[in-house]
Amino acid sequence: MRSLVYYVATSLDGFIADDAGSWAAFVDDPLTLAALFAEYPETCPTHVREALGVDAPARHFDAVVLGRATHQPALDAGLTSAYPHLAQYVVTRRDDLPEDPTVTVVADDPVGAVRELKLQPGRDIWLCGGGDLAGQLVDEIDELHLKVNPVVLGSGVPLFRGLTTPRAFRHVSTTPLPGGVQLAVLARA
Ligand SMILES: NC(=O)c1ccc[n+]([C@@H]2O[C@H](COP(=O)([O-])OP(=O)(O)OC[C@H]3O[C@@H](n4cnc5c(N)ncnc54)[C@H](OP(=O)(O)O)[C@@H]3O)[C@@H](O)[C@H]2O)c1
Repeated sequence: MRSLVYYVATSLDGFIADDAGSWAAFVDDPLTLAALFAEYPETCPTHVREALGVDAPARHFDAVVLGRATHQPALDAGLTSAYPHLAQYVVTRRDDLPEDPTVTVVADDPVGAVRELKLQPGRDIWLCGGGDLAGQLVDEIDELHLKVNPVVLGSGVPLFRGLTTPRAFRHVSTTPLPGGVQLAVLARA
């Protein structure tokens, strides 16, 4: 069965963006990006793949699940989606998303939608974020692939919003990347 993998950049204190929704405090030097896109080439947005020299085939995922707030920057940039090389599932209660044949709108019950996706054949499913959606999908997450940035934000968008009870994960590996980022892989305990 396909796994749901939450692959996301986080601060040391568990925030995926600051209070303004920005990732400006996270490491984005070319060597770090190159190392990440070498391992996860399919997570490079289609419209910047050429500029960043990312042309390798997918290694992990063929589908991505995003909350609408995470999808919004692509819309704000005039695109209909950021990852049309993947099957994209955007979770939203809105009915005004621009038409895109690679986007499926999940209007409610993201847990049920992910359970159905896991039963379909294919590569693993990338949970892109954000924290609101991840909080609802926490019990469907099979692996965490955390890009742990060497910075404390203090506040911002949490990795998981709305959790009130602990969930345990076991450490699988930690890989140091250029720029001080640690790629931490954990599996559901
Ligand atoms: N560091 C990283 O790698 C990373 C990755 C991804 C995102 N981010 C950051 O995270 C922030 C966005 O995260 P977020 O937690 O604010 O929001 P989010 O999870 O991306 O999206 C929340 C939205 O999803 C929709 N939604 C959530 N649950 C739903 C349900 N059960 N049924 C239907 N629709 C549902 C709603 O959209 P509607 O309002 O349209 O109904 C809701 O407003 C951004 O700042 C982004 O930059 C960072």
